[in-house]
Amino acid sequence: MIYAATTERSIAIVLLVVVVVGWAIYVFVNIRRSKSEVGSEIELAANRGSLPDDDALEGNRLERVQAFGVLMLLIIALALPVYWLREGGRRSGAERGFSERAAAAGERLAEELECVVCHGADLGGANYAPVVLDIGNQFSDQDTYIVKTTWRAPALDTVFARFDTDAETLDEVNEIRQILNYGRGVMPAWGLPGGGPLTPQQVDNLIAWLWRERLSDEEAREDALVAKQSEMAAHPEKTEGQILFEIHCARCHTPRWPARGAAQLPNNGGEVQIVPGPAGSGRYGPALNTVSLERLFPDIEDQISFVATGAADNVAYGEFARLGNYGMPGFGRVLSDDEIRAIAEYERSLDPAEQTTVQFTELHTTEDNK
Ligand code: HEC
Ligand code: HEC
Repeated sequence: MIYAATTERSIAIVLLVVVVVGWAIYVFVNIRRSKSEVGSEIELAANRGSLPDDDALEGNRLERVQAFGVLMLLIIALALPVYWLREGGRRSGAERGFSERAAAAGERLAEELECVVCHGADLGGANYAPVVLDIGNQFSDQDTYIVKTTWRAPALDTVFARFDTDAETLDEVNEIRQILNYGRGVMPAWGLPGGGPLTPQQVDNLIAWLWRERLSDEEAREDALVAKQSEMAAHPEKTEGQILFEIHCARCHTPRWPARGAAQLPNNGGEVQIVPGPAGSGRYGPALNTVSLERLFPDIEDQISFVATGAADNVAYGEFARLGNYGMPGFGRVLSDDEIRAIAEYERSLDPAEQTTVQFTELHTTEDNK
């Protein structure tokens, strides 16, 4: 059967059966009766029967009919405006209901696809457990090829503070759809356009879920402030710019940063610890160094405003612009101008010689440590 049984359909079928059977009985009885009373319809015809006289018709009876008419009119006159008054709320309620259902579907999907295993059950960046990922030979030379490694994933409750920062409704979300469709760095593509398993509707549901879970700008800023203060207290030797860079930028701009510290599992059976490459020498995002930054943004103010807004699709930036990328998030909602200036100054102070050395010598095996 094509149609599944529902309560409505069962009720409708019962009603249909009752009506058809009732009609059949009525027709049957009528035919029998008319047979037994041949000619009776001439006497019983309605227009030949006796009607009330004019007094009765134009008195009480007429008034009752008129009062009934007025009552019906009143009901319509009252009900229509009331219906109209509720119409706006009904429509926005339907929209809200729709996005609530989409978010709930997205949440179920996120559990199924284990987004939270990598991104943390509370979606916050601070409390996630690093996950074991197969990210190929990013770390070592052939001798100590690392098959699997632990890798920290970014917070998901603040993605809307970094991407699609001017989106006011779900319809205006582009960058996050792009990320989910095509994947990002070591995260695989989820959407069909990028070769992933999810339909556009499923990707939309995930977006509705992320939208529902998003922190307000104030909360995101507060989180960033707490992270900065605790790092600054723990590392008084570092400048504010360096600390902010490590919290917000290094995961994309410094080699191996998301794998730092944790024990890794190379396929030769030993144990190694990953040490990140030179700060800002490039990973998912390009290498940042004095020479290229001063060429790209001769005026530091332009660099600051670029970091505040991020890269938009097919919008050029800097003197030697890159095009067609959604990669770089905007930080203007989370960081203050002064904080972004501190980062920009730190970036411009990075040693250009170091930025060009991509090396594997920082990989310490347990053998080295003996
Ligand atoms: C196997 C671990 C893993 C799984 C599962 C995973 N992600 Fe990711 N995701 C990552 C990593 C790691 C990054 C950052 C990319 C990098 O470091 O190269 C990322 C990046 C993202 C970003 C971009 C955020 C940013 O600030 O850069 C979004 C959005 C995202 N993931 C959403 C999801 C959603 C939704 C799901 C579930 C469908 C999901 N992820 C499942 C590991 C994962
Ligand atoms: C999610 C990964 C990611 C994070 C986090 C990130 N960036 Fe980027 N960044 C990129 C990508 C990708 C580009 C290249 C953008 C493009 O080509 O459109 C880029 C470009 C840049 C550029 C321009 C350099 C160039 O050669 O194009 C600067 C400057 C920069 N990022 C600074 C920062 C700062 C400062 C932070 C932290 C506050 C940061 N980035 C955080 C991914 C990231």
